[in-house]
Amino acid sequence: MIPRVRVADIGRYEGQAVQIAGWLYNLRSSGKICFPQVRDGSGIIQCVAVKSALPEELFDTLKHLTQESSLMIQGKVRAEARAAGGFELDVESATIVQRVPEAAPYPITPKDHGIDFLMDHRHLWLRSRRQHAALIVRHEVVKGIRDYFDSNGFVLVDAPIFTPAACEGTSTLFELDYFEDEKVYLTQSGQLYGEATAAAFGKTYCFGPVFRAEKSKTRRHLTEFWMVEPEMAFADLEDVKRVGEELIRFVITRVLENRKEELKVLERDVTKLEAACAPFHRMSYDEAVVKLKAKGSEIQWGTDFGNTDETLLTDDLDRPVMVDRYPAAVKAFYFAPAPERADCALGVDFIAPEGYGEIIGGGQRIHDLDLLLKRLEEHQLPREAFEWYLDLRKYGSVPHAGFGMGVERFVAWMCGLEHVRETTAFPRMLYRTRP
Ligand code: 4AD
Ligand code: MG
Repeated sequence: MIPRVRVADIGRYEGQAVQIAGWLYNLRSSGKICFPQVRDGSGIIQCVAVKSALPEELFDTLKHLTQESSLMIQGKVRAEARAAGGFELDVESATIVQRVPEAAPYPITPKDHGIDFLMDHRHLWLRSRRQHAALIVRHEVVKGIRDYFDSNGFVLVDAPIFTPAACEGTSTLFELDYFEDEKVYLTQSGQLYGEATAAAFGKTYCFGPVFRAEKSKTRRHLTEFWMVEPEMAFADLEDVKRVGEELIRFVITRVLENRKEELKVLERDVTKLEAACAPFHRMSYDEAVVKLKAKGSEIQWGTDFGNTDETLLTDDLDRPVMVDRYPAAVKAFYFAPAPERADCALGVDFIAPEGYGEIIGGGQRIHDLDLLLKRLEEHQLPREAFEWYLDLRKYGSVPHAGFGMGVERFVAWMCGLEHVRETTAFPRMLYRTRP
């Protein structure tokens, strides 16, 4: 029996006959020889079909095969120093599984397509090299995140997607009918549930999709994105900074070690990622405002940073900066106030270099029942929906803290992508819900 192998593993079969199964990525031919390039999801390999060595019909079929036709090829593996993966396959036989008809060819060709066209064909665009590489990096990032938490004493406890209450402000909630007479929302963050699970398990994380009905059409915003959210009991703002920094440096190191090929396809300048592994910068919101003003921003104390402020703040930095103690007024209801200055929240944002913006947001939570009640009122949040959350302040309340890291922004930064839409297979944005 001839073994079926993945292109990525083909080097182990040098000199042997193997079968590969995939899709025609590209084809060159010159008279009596043709070179079908086959991709199988794990890699791309150049095959060599020689007319004199094959039945005439088969050679002809291969020579005129159309892009993205599916096929299985048998042949002998040969080392070839000039080949991208170091090997070529000398074709001995082949079976075409489905031939893409000439009359309706594969729509994505090597010519330049506009972004709308590509996004409309996202289900096919995923097969292209750069898109493929970006999603492989995403896989590595997700794996790295899980490995970091799993090996540091955190228990994975996921939060529900249907929720009765807002976590991050009521203006960005997707509301939906839950059977006849109940309204629920798609979750904006698993944090409130994380606070419950941290009191049960000590250190937890949840990792899933979250939703924001945000009418922002920027290169950093999706309406559905993935967030990892650790939460720690008996912890404070400093713990958030420490864990967030450790996590990011751990994941970058993983990506640099394991995804060199993909970073090359993406033409990512890896020296930028290496530099980002140095200890992060730290500054307070107050200091950030002074810096921004000096650089020409019109920011006023008391307002949140916009995208341009975030970019301006980091354009002279080669690694993330952790900005803490934002004005309480611009932050969510649950932030603990700074003991030395009640108008500042014990929150921190990690802002990535190279214009990737805020990648982590988090901080210390209010653990005092009366203060929390006051905040719910100030934010006009319905107490009934939060009764269970208030229980956490009645039964063994402790200082606790956590954060959320958006996977898509992080992956965009790793890959050096212009826009978060290419970091997820099927992005959901203000004007895109298809395919
Ligand atoms: O700062 P955010 O809104 O924080 C929270 O939701 C907290 N409840 C998290 C926590 O403490 N457990 O969002 C956290 C991160 C941001 O730093 C950013 O990386 C990402 O989520 N993010 C988005 N990513 C893509 N599209 C959007 N619209 C995003 N909004 C936030
Ligand atoms: Mg934030």
